Amino acid sequence: TTKPRTLLALNWKMNKTPSEARIWGRELAQRFTRGDAELAVMAPATHLHGLREALPGGVDVGAQDVSAHESGAYTGEISAAMLADLGVVYVVVGHSERREYHGETDAVVAAKAGQAQANGLTPIVCVGEGLEVREKGEHVAYTLAQLAGSLEGVGPEVVVAYEPVWAIGTGKTATDDDAEELASAIRAALVERYGDKSAEIRVLYGGSVKPDNIASICAKPNVNGALVGGASLKVEDVLGMNDAL
Ligand code: G3P
Repeated sequence: TTKPRTLLALNWKMNKTPSEARIWGRELAQRFTRGDAELAVMAPATHLHGLREALPGGVDVGAQDVSAHESGAYTGEISAAMLADLGVVYVVVGHSERREYHGETDAVVAAKAGQAQANGLTPIVCVGEGLEVREKGEHVAYTLAQLAGSLEGVGPEVVVAYEPVWAIGTGKTATDDDAEELASAIRAALVERYGDKSAEIRVLYGGSVKPDNIASICAKPNVNGALVGGASLKVEDVLGMNDAL
């Protein structure tokens, strides 16, 4: 079986200003050489227009969240159609920070992913266990249950990111084998859910990925790329990760 093309997905979280994002995009455009991986930058909504104009061709932009609703009286929300109109390709849904600080349930995450797909965007659905669950040895069952709920009614044009919460921004990376354990369990669940259509689905690992550990994690048979937070902010680190893949 052939692996789907590796995706290096950068999650800037709530960092940089729109002007800084444009400068970053231009710097990347000057220094970037296309490697084997596909590259996409998940930026705050305010940055997306300028960033898309500044980035080199072939590097996509993505959003970090999207409304679960189509349009209407939802003050402050941004719809999938609005993002699509800006040329956005991906949208992260169900990041653990949104689940934790904004109370997003699996059902909300699934509704957001559905909105994204209905508007031609590819949702990057995030799942992963916290430390207590890991210590009880229940991380596989927990993560698969979260995945099932988050994919309810969602089609196969999706990316799944496994991000163990204890490894996010902590410098503690899951071992390559920890990542593979969950990636292979997720892959099996995707095959069960989507059959042959699951072949193209990328399963990413996220949590303290950086230039010096990305290659070995992404070399695991069921890991098809990374979702990167901290190491996504500096052009230097992104070039290093891109070259390592
Ligand atoms: O979405 C990416 C993420 O949560 C991982 O963050 O800083 O550990 O790479 P970081």
